[in-house]
Amino acid sequence: MLGGLKKVETVKVNFTVNGESHDIDVEPRRMLADVLRHDLYCFGVHLGCEHGVCGACTIIVDGAAVRSCLMLAAQAQGSEIVTTEGLGTPEHLHPVQQAFNEEHALQCGFCTPGFVCTITAMLPEIPDMDDTELRNELSGNICRCTGYANILRAARSAAQHQETAGLALSAEAVDYDDD
Ligand code: FES
Ligand code: FES
Repeated sequence: MLGGLKKVETVKVNFTVNGESHDIDVEPRRMLADVLRHDLYCFGVHLGCEHGVCGACTIIVDGAAVRSCLMLAAQAQGSEIVTTEGLGTPEHLHPVQQAFNEEHALQCGFCTPGFVCTITAMLPEIPDMDDTELRNELSGNICRCTGYANILRAARSAAQHQETAGLALSAEAVDYDDD
C-alpha cells in the first residue's frame, strides 16, 4: 500500500515480437499497442483513435491482422506478433512496403504501418478479390491524406509478387527484385 493506493498486480506474459521472444510483466488492463510502443519500442505501431476505428495500430498476430489498441497484452500470451518493423528493413523492404513506395501510396505515413500489416496478412486472398471486395477489406483502415487509389494499387502490385512474397512475413525470405 502506498498512500492508501493498492499496488496493481501484474501477470507474466510471453510472446514473440518480430522473431524475438519476450517475457514481460504486464498489468492485466494494459493494451497490446501500449506494451509494443512503450515497453518494446515498436514505434511503427501508431495510435490514432485508440478505440478500434482507424486501423493505425494494426499488427499481425498469428498471421491475422489485429487492432492492437483493442487487444489486451495478456491476451497475446504465446502469440507470434509481427509489426511493420519486422516486415522489412530500409535496405530491404518487404514487398508490401516496396509497393507502397513505388505506387506513392503514402503521404504523411501515419496510417501506413497499419495498412501494410493489413495488406500483408491478406495478401494471398487479394488476387481473388474484385475491387469492391478489396475496398471493403481495407475499409477498416483510414487514411487522411492519399485518397486511397494508390493504396489499392499498392495492394494489387504486392499481390502480384505473392509467389515469392505472399506467405512470407519476414523480409529475409523475400527478394522483391528477383523476378
Ligand atoms: S488506434 Fe487502434 S484502431 Fe485506431
Ligand atoms: S498517408 Fe497520411 S494518414 Fe494516410
